[in-house]
Amino acid sequence: MYLTNEQEAILRGEEGWAKKKCLEIIVALGEIYGADRLIPVASTQISGVSYKTLGEYGLQWVESLAPAKVVVPSTLNPAGMDLGGWSEMGVPEDFAAKQMRVIRAYAKLGVTTLCSCTPYLAGFAPRFREHVAWSESSAVCFVNSYLGARTNREGGPSALASAITGLTANYGLHLDENRRPTAIVKVSAKLAGLSDYSALGYRLGKLLQQHIPYLRGLPTLGVDEAKALSAAAAASGNLALFHAEGFTPESEVSVGEVRERLHIDDKDLKGVYEELSTIRSGNIDLVAIGCPHSSLTELKAAAALLKGKKVSPATKLWFFTSLPVKVLAERLGFVDVIEGAGGKVFTDCCMIVAPLEQMGFTTMAVNSAKAALYAPTASKVEVVFTTFEKCIDIALEGRLR
Ligand code: F3S
Repeated sequence: MYLTNEQEAILRGEEGWAKKKCLEIIVALGEIYGADRLIPVASTQISGVSYKTLGEYGLQWVESLAPAKVVVPSTLNPAGMDLGGWSEMGVPEDFAAKQMRVIRAYAKLGVTTLCSCTPYLAGFAPRFREHVAWSESSAVCFVNSYLGARTNREGGPSALASAITGLTANYGLHLDENRRPTAIVKVSAKLAGLSDYSALGYRLGKLLQQHIPYLRGLPTLGVDEAKALSAAAAASGNLALFHAEGFTPESEVSVGEVRERLHIDDKDLKGVYEELSTIRSGNIDLVAIGCPHSSLTELKAAAALLKGKKVSPATKLWFFTSLPVKVLAERLGFVDVIEGAGGKVFTDCCMIVAPLEQMGFTTMAVNSAKAALYAPTASKVEVVFTTFEKCIDIALEGRLR
């Protein structure tokens, strides 16, 4: 792989230990994947933030990189708690202390401590054809597909290494030839709400482990639909890019070597709701909305459904979003309505990376296929995957019927 004189100097340690280590990570990845050179990135998004997933060794690695500083705009994935409201969530104090240490370690490196899987809704949206190094899988799929930016699915350490060096290796989805669709998927399923897009994403990811799909027949694909679809497809099948006819910026490129033709119908989507739900009735401790982090539109819809109603004392109704979106939702009065009805709007975290198992929850309702897929193992809870409206109904009734 070609390296410039400046890059060689970094590898010799002339710009410090941390930068040398970070560049070594990027060069090693480049060599594994056959990159010809390193290319600059415009931004990074770094996973491995919740202490639950990062752990002590991960924390020590992040701390060890100071006094290095990031050289491009960089944000973080959700942490394990609302950084201001963790005690209201019932997060144990020892976990909170470790979590704050993680946040301080990233802040010391100059990372913007926006902890969100949807930074593109909060002022950090890459532009068309821009090379970036992002690691949250749902955001990777969203920015590649919906914005036409270019990123591989980075791990937390490699995204942090890109943040500190400003570089990534030129392979995979950074290259035109690897972005062409290789499977055509006709979607005839009726897509009535965001959970249907989530179910579609889940089914796509499952069916197409090694393909880039070209979707035909979607009735619409707004930001919220694309975010729901991206998250589920990336979770069930590592999908990092899809094209949707008439909606995504690269859908005009020629279809590559098409090796698969598939069809997804109503029956397929119905099957996803059944497959991912581990409970069919009974008490639900937590209704959790915001995987990926809720947009202003979703919080507005929630406020409309909750106006004048009361959440059952048997259940908690929690929304997860980013701090900037919550600030706007407060200004627009949505948070007052949601919290007046007994719900809560938390920032910086989510139902999967928070230590739910230590917080006494055993059953959860979600409108996200990704959350439903991960919850039983990540948070040790039984789960029901259903629509947004049904989630709100469960919260009002306190149980699933
Ligand atoms: Fe985001 Fe957590 Fe879901 S990071 S995509 S809300 S699992």
